[in-house]
Amino acid sequence: MRTPIIAGNWKMNMNLENATKLVEKIKSEATKTDVEIVVCCPSIYISEIKKIVADSKVKIGAQNMHWADSGAFTGEISADMLNDIGVDYVILGHSERRQIFGETNEVVNKKIKKAIKKKIKPILCVGETLEEREEGRTHDVVKKQVESCLNGISAEDMLEIVIAYEPIWAIGTGKTASSKDANDVVSFIRGLIDKNYGEKVSDAVRIQYGGSVKPNNATEIMNEYDIDGALVGGASLDAESFLAIVNF
Ligand code: PGA
Repeated sequence: MRTPIIAGNWKMNMNLENATKLVEKIKSEATKTDVEIVVCCPSIYISEIKKIVADSKVKIGAQNMHWADSGAFTGEISADMLNDIGVDYVILGHSERRQIFGETNEVVNKKIKKAIKKKIKPILCVGETLEEREEGRTHDVVKKQVESCLNGISAEDMLEIVIAYEPIWAIGTGKTASSKDANDVVSFIRGLIDKNYGEKVSDAVRIQYGGSVKPNNATEIMNEYDIDGALVGGASLDAESFLAIVNF
C-alpha cells in the first residue's frame, strides 16, 4: 500500500504572520492519519515553520535548491543549507522553474542526484503544455521529462522520489484534468518506472497529481487507483481548503 502524500506548494506567497497561523491550524486540524502532509513554504520561513511542526506529523519541503555543494551562485540555496534547517522534501523541476527560470531536464537531473545524495526527498514535477496536449504529444513529453530527469538514478534511490504529474495548463487556471485523464498519464508514468526499474519499485513509487486541486475535486482525483495524493498550489494557502483536501 502506498501512503498518499499531500503537499502544499505556497510558491512566493504569505508573510510570516499568516504562515504561522496557517501552519498552526494545519497541525492541529489535520485528522487523517494515513496521509503524509508536507508544507512547502518559502525557504526564508522554513526555520520558523519547522519549529511549529516539530512535534507533529507535518513535514517540511523546500520549493527549489541548487545542485552544487557551495560556491559563487548568488541567491541560491544548497542541499546542506536545507538540511541544516531540517527539510524533508524538495520540489524540483516545477513548471514555473522550467518556464520562467529556464530549468532544463539536465539541470533538474543534477538537482535530483544532489538531493538524493544529501537525503532530501525530491518531488519531481513533470507535465505537458496545452499545445503539447492538443497535438497528442502528452505521453512523449512526459516520457522525455521522466527519463531525462531520472537519468542515472538507481532503483533504490527511486524509492525515495515522489513524482508529481502537473499538466501546465491546469496550474493556477482553475482547469483540472479530469480524474480519468490525470490517472491515464499517472499510469503511463508508473509504466515507465516499471519498464526501467521493475514492478517492485513501480508499485511502491508515489505519483501525485497537481493542477487546480481544490476541496471539490480532491476526493475524485485521489480515488483514482494510480494517483497517490496531490501537489496543491492556490488551495494550500487557505487553511480550510487545504485541510479539506488533506482530510479527504
Ligand atoms: P495550483 O498549483 O494548485 O494553484 O494549480 C499547483 C502547483 O503549481 O503545484
